Amino acid sequence: QPMSEYQCLKVETRGRVGIITMYRPEALNALNNQLTSEITAALRAFEADPDIGAMILTGDGKAFAAGADIKEMQPKTFSVVYSEEFITATWEELTRTRKPVIAAVNGFALGGGCEFAMMCDTIFASEKAKFGQPEIKLGVIPGSGGTQRLTRFVGKAVAMDMILTGRMIDAEEALRIGLVARVYPPEQLMEETIKAAEQIANYGALAVMAAKETVNRAYETTMSEGVRFERRLFHGLFGTADQQEGMAAFLEKREAKFTGR
Ligand code: CAA
Repeated sequence: QPMSEYQCLKVETRGRVGIITMYRPEALNALNNQLTSEITAALRAFEADPDIGAMILTGDGKAFAAGADIKEMQPKTFSVVYSEEFITATWEELTRTRKPVIAAVNGFALGGGCEFAMMCDTIFASEKAKFGQPEIKLGVIPGSGGTQRLTRFVGKAVAMDMILTGRMIDAEEALRIGLVARVYPPEQLMEETIKAAEQIANYGALAVMAAKETVNRAYETTMSEGVRFERRLFHGLFGTADQQEGMAAFLEKREAKFTGR
């Protein structure tokens, strides 16, 4: 899909970093079918582009995303959501990308917006960010992984508190409980996120991919199986040119030139 054809996204590149900005100013970037389908297309395009090494997902204006589009959801019935595989059909490409994706949360990340951020590999937040799972107020529960991911990231007490009361937390609390990695003043958020993404994108692509895959494994398996998985990939990286180059460069006191091979 050519970039100019997106209606609900702004897509751009900065060096080896692909930036996807959710853009529905009339609805605080609420996630309707058009927006989630376009995110899937944009992620696939960056994933396939050898000149891109890392991605950023962010939102335009005062929201990251204010959740699933309630106007689009309200008339849906069980038979509709079940047969169209609502959420599963168009929302989960973020969990399939092998290149790292950083969520730059600039404002409201509520409901599906918070869940989208949690599907990314790490979250950087602006001091103005607000996170919440307010679905309980709408007569439902989080439906794109929030009950599982939030609980694993911050523990049961805080997850239950947020999901049962629907209360929002600010960036400072999100940092304290481990939901986000870094917090910046609003005007510095994008610049600093791009810096981190560029740093990642310039390392050896195979090591980056293996690091992401291995950390994610920690959420899917036991400690001993996870460590075994890590050890196999670690060993495997000794078959790459980037391992030879990275270690030689250190010993020769020069910068490594990684080729992704
Ligand atoms: N869906 C559709 N439209 C939304 C929306 C959403 N999730 N969130 C905001 N909007 C729209 C508002 O309806 C409003 O449109 P109009 O100007 O046409 O009335 C516009 O965006 C601006 O919003 P507000 O006037 O409400 O802005 P505010 O600054 O007063 O409040 C807010 C901001 C607290 C985020 C408030 O908009 C809000 O509570 N939004 C809903 C948040 C929510 O419940 N999200 C969960 C959705 S359910 C879900 O996500 C399910 C899942 O797990 C997959």
